[in-house]
Formats: sequence, structure tokens, C-alpha cells
Amino acid sequence: MRRRTMLLSYVLIHVIAASLVAKSIAQAPIRPPDVMFVPTPQEVVDAMLKMAKVTANDVVYDLGSGDGRIPITAAREYGARGVGIDLDPRRIKEANDNAKAAGVSDKVTFLNQDLFTTDISDATVVTLYLLASLNLKLLPKLMRELKPGTRVVSHAFGIGDWKPERTIRVNGRSVYYWTIPEKQP
Ligand SMILES: C[S@@+](CC[C@H](N)C(=O)[O-])C[C@H]1O[C@@H](n2cnc3c(N)ncnc32)[C@H](O)[C@@H]1O
Repeated sequence: MRRRTMLLSYVLIHVIAASLVAKSIAQAPIRPPDVMFVPTPQEVVDAMLKMAKVTANDVVYDLGSGDGRIPITAAREYGARGVGIDLDPRRIKEANDNAKAAGVSDKVTFLNQDLFTTDISDATVVTLYLLASLNLKLLPKLMRELKPGTRVVSHAFGIGDWKPERTIRVNGRSVYYWTIPEKQP
């Protein structure tokens, strides 16, 4: 009887350990993110979306979407469609939970992908809170994939030599605004 209990405990411990390992593998990012998660304060999110004049006709992409606050706010406040892209599956789960709590799950999609390889061509507004170096690396993709007239808004960081059309300050933070120019023949 005692041997059977010991055997059962042994099997149980191994099953639990295996499921914990499987869970942590499933939650690990595809590769390490290029920048860690630091959320944009809500008042800055609001200012970014206002600056981009977001409406219900827009498709708002947040590249590196963290807890999803930018696409969720765009959907909740303006009725826009939102798409968030993040390498970290924990952020994707958090964003989906937040979208559900905000009642906008039908309007937002969160993709567990690399922002450098995801097709972003149906965006009409792109939001960024990355790093100056990542924005610079992203510039050719923005110019190549986005339609002329697409609005780009970045919290805190510029995009290389691309001169912003507008810059505002919100509680000591800079927000930059550009529109994608007509393609050169
Ligand atoms: C500074 S946080 C910004 C979060 C959100 N956009 C905001 O403003 O609140 C950057 C996010 O980008 C994600 N990230 C970093 N590199 C990435 C990549 N190559 N592709 C997709 N997401 C990435 C991180 O996991 C993190 O959640």
C-alpha cells in the first residue's frame, strides 16, 4: 500500500513538473523582444490618438503593443479597428484580457509576431513606443508598406532624419507625428 502511494506521488510530481515546463515554454517569446515592456501613460495614449485624428474608419496598428492599451483605447473611444503586435505571448494574453474587460474584443486583434516581419499594409494609423534605433530600423518598412497619407505617431522617439510635421509635449513627454508621403516613381 505504502509503495503504491509512493509510486503515485512520484508519477504525480513528474506530471506536474512536465506541465510547468510545457507552460513556461509556451509562454516564452519567439525571440527576446528588442525593447522591454514599459506602458505609455493613458494621458499620452489619449493625446497620440487625438493627434492622429482617429475615427471609426481607421485601422490603428500599435507596433510592440504591450498590454494593448493603444488599440483598445482606439476601439473603445473612437470605434476604430485595432491591431497590436507583440513578441511576448504574456503581453498578448494580457492585451486580450484587457480587450475583453473593455468590451472591444470584436474590434481588436493581437498578433504574437515580430513587428519587423508582420504585414502592416492595411494600417491607416501606426503608433510606436520603441527606441530611436528601432524606429530608424523600421523606417524603410513604414515607407515600403504603408499607403500614402497613413499617419504615424511616436511616443518619445523620433524616426531618424524624418522631420515630424508636429510635435507636442504631454506631461513632459514628447509625441511626434508624420504622414507617409506619396511614393516616388
Ligand atoms: C515600450 S513597450 C510599448 C508598449 C505599448 N506600445 C505602449 O505604448 O504602452 C514595447 C513593447 O514592444 C514589444 N516588442 C519589442 N520588440 C518587439 C518586436 N521585434 N516585435 C514585436 N514586439 C516587440 C515588447 O514586448 C513590449 O511589449
